[in-house]
Amino acid sequence: MPISLDLFGREGFMKAARRASEVLKRWVSSGEPITIISHVDADGITAASIIASCLYRLEVPFRARIVPWLDRDMVEELASGPEGPIVFTDIGSSYMNLLAEGLGTREVLVLDHHPPVGKPPPGWVEVNPHNHGLDGTSDVSGAGVAYLVVREFGDEMRDLAPLAVIGALGDLQDRREDRSLGGLNEIAVEDAVGLGLVEVSKDLVFYGRETRPIHKAMAYTSSPYIPGISYQEDNAFAVLAKAGIKVKEDDRWRTVSDLSEEEKKRLLDTIAGFLASRGHSPELVNKLVGTVYTLVGEEPWTPLRDAREFASLLNACARMEKPDVGIAVCMGDRSRGLEEALSLLEEYRSRLARCFAKMQEPGVVEELGRLVVVHGGSWMSDRMVAAVASIVSSGMAGSGKVLVVYAFEEDGKHAKISARVPPEGPEIDIGALMRDLAARFSGLGGGHDVAAGARIPADSVSDFIRALGEALGKAEARKS
Ligand code: C5P
Ligand code: ZN
Repeated sequence: MPISLDLFGREGFMKAARRASEVLKRWVSSGEPITIISHVDADGITAASIIASCLYRLEVPFRARIVPWLDRDMVEELASGPEGPIVFTDIGSSYMNLLAEGLGTREVLVLDHHPPVGKPPPGWVEVNPHNHGLDGTSDVSGAGVAYLVVREFGDEMRDLAPLAVIGALGDLQDRREDRSLGGLNEIAVEDAVGLGLVEVSKDLVFYGRETRPIHKAMAYTSSPYIPGISYQEDNAFAVLAKAGIKVKEDDRWRTVSDLSEEEKKRLLDTIAGFLASRGHSPELVNKLVGTVYTLVGEEPWTPLRDAREFASLLNACARMEKPDVGIAVCMGDRSRGLEEALSLLEEYRSRLARCFAKMQEPGVVEELGRLVVVHGGSWMSDRMVAAVASIVSSGMAGSGKVLVVYAFEEDGKHAKISARVPPEGPEIDIGALMRDLAARFSGLGGGHDVAAGARIPADSVSDFIRALGEALGKAEARKS
């Protein structure tokens, strides 16, 4: 589809954002309750919180609902639910036909960065970087789109910029040099820095680098996932010892920010050796140095201080099916909301730690040609499959492999499968592959180019994985 010049690029995007803000202002002045529908991950939670905070400040009643995806049932439910305008954030563009069919007569805004499928009906406003030749994977996230819309309300909304930074990092948009955010995301970074809310520096990206003992900071880091070290404090401790790095100064635990440049280099070299000795790509250490975004107003000992870790906290809330707790924290709750979020994080981390410990056992992780398969079988909860897949895949950047994780549902009749193309991975549309294959095995699957899921009959798993491996091979052969 040709894109007309006045729609093209940043200018065009900003025009759409302004139009959306005009619509939102009109709704605000009518005072009708507004429904926010958003996606169940850190980006979706921050996106919803940006709109919710804006409405809260303007004393407009709103309700927010977080959903994993949209389907006909969900749209019908929305259509028969409370009246009034609806804002979709971080979700919607890929379901435009479904939405138009079910909600065509409603007032709707869609603020998203997923690839659009279909066109919005007349009267709706869609803000999406793809409509302007921009990149939805690294130029701006759902939270970024939401932020650029509320930013049009005036300077008093600019303190919401850190949420856009967190959302973009949650969606792994730190794909520019030194793991920095770029494109339209830069506007939020500049606003947040300008207000003194965020500091940008270059360092090791370990979580809690100013506050935690070094081995803990290493083990807490999940973006990227460091195989054998993330979630495994004892291994992290052993690596530090091997690198000859003192963990304490007198009686005080040293932190990553206490390390000298020479010590940091030694640590990275030792981690590279550790990874190589376990058959992983040592290149991963390049992802351990980069741009760090610190929320300087947050208490140093909380996971809110480092924007990547804040995103992980929100992801935990989402995965533990309590996204509302994440929204409360984003909207400023530092008492009960934060307390609950911290306990969700702890429970989620210990579940993940059990999964990753199990993955160290022989036979659990298997390489099948271009596929890396994690056999979650019956020991992994089907509810952990997608999380494990996303985290493990972040540690497979540049490996050229595709990751598949599966586990059987409790009834033993179905399997939940997640597939991921890691950063800098092969250029294939894993969503289309999973959708077609799942249908062939009497299941349901889908997703986008780098992340997809499926649910199929349990006894088809081996055949499904074999067929996926073959389909990958064919897709690659067609490319070369
Ligand atoms: O479940 P999982 O997180 O692995 O799914 C990855 C992506 O694929 C998500 O964006 C999810 O919404 C999408 N998906 C889909 N249809 C399915 C399963 C997953 O569109 N049947
Ligand atoms: Zn997103």
